[in-house]
Amino acid sequence: MTEPRLHVDEEPERRVGELLAAAAQSGETIVLTGGSSVGHAYEHAAELQPGWSASSVWWGDERCVPPDDERSNYLLAKRTLLDRLQAQPDVHRIRGELQPADAAGEYDKAIEGVKLDFLLLGLGTDAHVASLFPGSPQLEERERLATSGPAGLEPFVDRVTLTLPALLSAKRIVFLVTGADKAEAVRHGFLGPITPDAPASLLREGEVPIDVYLDAAASG
Ligand code: 6PG
Repeated sequence: MTEPRLHVDEEPERRVGELLAAAAQSGETIVLTGGSSVGHAYEHAAELQPGWSASSVWWGDERCVPPDDERSNYLLAKRTLLDRLQAQPDVHRIRGELQPADAAGEYDKAIEGVKLDFLLLGLGTDAHVASLFPGSPQLEERERLATSGPAGLEPFVDRVTLTLPALLSAKRIVFLVTGADKAEAVRHGFLGPITPDAPASLLREGEVPIDVYLDAAASG
């Protein structure tokens, strides 16, 4: 069991940007996320550390859309991080343009045996993590590292997501959570009982250290 450490900060995006930059400099294997707040953290990380050639990047989840679609998690990272770097990491994107099951199968094989050093996650207003939504049967998955399924929140396109065993194989988990609309999810995910109704809470069953960077609004 793990007790998440909550860090309330005026600029949590900058703190997470610093952590990403340090991880890139150390050549870590980094798992990126999508969502509305993380773009600023990526921009800050690129400013601090433009050389990512020693590291590799993966994604915790992807919307099943082509890589140039505005909803793509890859496109967000490309615009705010990858396009601003002088030296690229090894990039392993989830191919959202494929049939969801095919994209998940391909990613499941690709990530097998990869040691994930730094797992960055966002938190949904419903306390979902990656694309593991409350009550989803995908939360039961114990063999596969990646699966596909429907979205529980907007945008309503199918998703490919890492599963709990994959997320819990990481060396460390860092959350970036901002905005008052996340305060309830913070309570459910990090302070309430462990339940599939709040997928973030299930990460506490593992032994992976969890650091949550949040603003005052999200901390409630
Ligand atoms: C996705 C994300 C998702 C996200 C949270 C938080 O593809 O939807 O990866 O898990 O991190 O929903 O997103 P917001 O910051 O936009 O609420």
